Amino acid sequence: MGLWTITGGNRLYGTVTAQGSVNGALALLAGCLAVGGETVLERVPRVADVELMLEILRRMNCKVKREGDRVTVDSRAASMDVVPVALMSKLRASILFLGAMLGRFGAAVIPMPAGSVLGPRPVDLHLAALQTMGASLRLEDGMISCESCDLQGGEVLLPYPSVGATENAMLAACGCSGETILRGCAKEPEVVELAEYLSSAGLNIRGAGTDVIRVRREKCVGKMFHRMYADRIAASALLCAVGACGGKLILQEVISSHLQPTLDVLGEMGCNIKIHGSEIVLQSDGKLWSPMNPITTGPYPSFSTDVQPLLLAACLRADGVTVVRERVFGGRLSHAKQLRQFGGDVSLTEDCAVLVTGVPTLRGATVRIHDLWSGAAVLLAALQADGESCVVDDNCISRGFAHLDATLRQLGADLEFTD
Ligand code: EPU
Repeated sequence: MGLWTITGGNRLYGTVTAQGSVNGALALLAGCLAVGGETVLERVPRVADVELMLEILRRMNCKVKREGDRVTVDSRAASMDVVPVALMSKLRASILFLGAMLGRFGAAVIPMPAGSVLGPRPVDLHLAALQTMGASLRLEDGMISCESCDLQGGEVLLPYPSVGATENAMLAACGCSGETILRGCAKEPEVVELAEYLSSAGLNIRGAGTDVIRVRREKCVGKMFHRMYADRIAASALLCAVGACGGKLILQEVISSHLQPTLDVLGEMGCNIKIHGSEIVLQSDGKLWSPMNPITTGPYPSFSTDVQPLLLAACLRADGVTVVRERVFGGRLSHAKQLRQFGGDVSLTEDCAVLVTGVPTLRGATVRIHDLWSGAAVLLAALQADGESCVVDDNCISRGFAHLDATLRQLGADLEFTD
């Protein structure tokens, strides 16, 4: 449990190097188990979910070493003898061990992941994909067991481009004897990053970033190296913060195409944005206007559901009415009520749309946050509000953001974070 004390109203100025991708790292760490050998990953953000994933790997007999942002995982001696069920249950991304273990050991036993504050988090698409690849499955006492003496691969159709199900199928395909053709895949950068890593480990992967991915195991490579992409959601959060508060942000080491949906909307709202290679410069006078057309969240390259709460926070003082439709996680609108506590004019419609009518000023509030990105949206509201805000943090910002307090202070925000 932590406490953020924020006195809003400051403009934000400065240069920040983007952190490495959290969701990308979670997928690649499962990948380290799937492929065996020794992997060096650079730019691995020190956030709670990643540390949990590393601890799970340690318990499964991998040698794991962290030196700053560099992580080495040697999974040659990994085994399924100890499955750290309690640790796995804390982390949604542990579902990726299902495909990873199946691909590596021909069997897997993991706990069923719990739902989350975003609503129910089914895994039917993951399970169906693995079954199509030749695995037999059993669900019993909250555990998922699956095995296959001969994973075939073949053709797998995902009826919805789930990020996790695409990743799980790719991980299981590491152990398939023949070619696996995945159709209806997610196109998120995290999927492309996993494909890049698995290719470096000796898999022949074509089509990542499109809706058809082909995977074939070709050779075994013992040593892998990968430098994580920039975290597009954490980067979007900083862009939204500076856009809304006003100021100038020089954001370094990003892949601007991954941020295009966010940049398009912030540009339309009046931010001045320039891209120079891997650097984005955003300037804002803090007086934004609402985007002209409704924003609808969806699978990449549509507007990200993770950025939705951040955008709403950036629109609280924008001139006009913003309409955002949430189409990925129906339960991801809890921040609407929290943003109202700052004086925001935010209303919900029955079909999961949010309407924000810009108000001239916000006031400080005391709010408790339970989820990473809606929590970050609350912090963005506090940064814009007149007076002091207290945000009680159920350890959610640290799940996905490394040193957010120091980064915001470095940009000129007036805040303290106590753990
Ligand atoms: N879905 C199903 N059945 C499944 C899987 C998904 O119905 O078997 C549904 C989900 O309920 C949801 C939609 O499909 O409505 C999209 O879910 P998806 O599987 O694509 O999401 P995910 O893999 O569980 C990842 C990120 C999320 C991010 C989503 C969407 C990780 C670890 N998580 O989740 O990030 O919101 O993709 O882009 O990669 C976060 O970072 O905090 C976070 C929640």
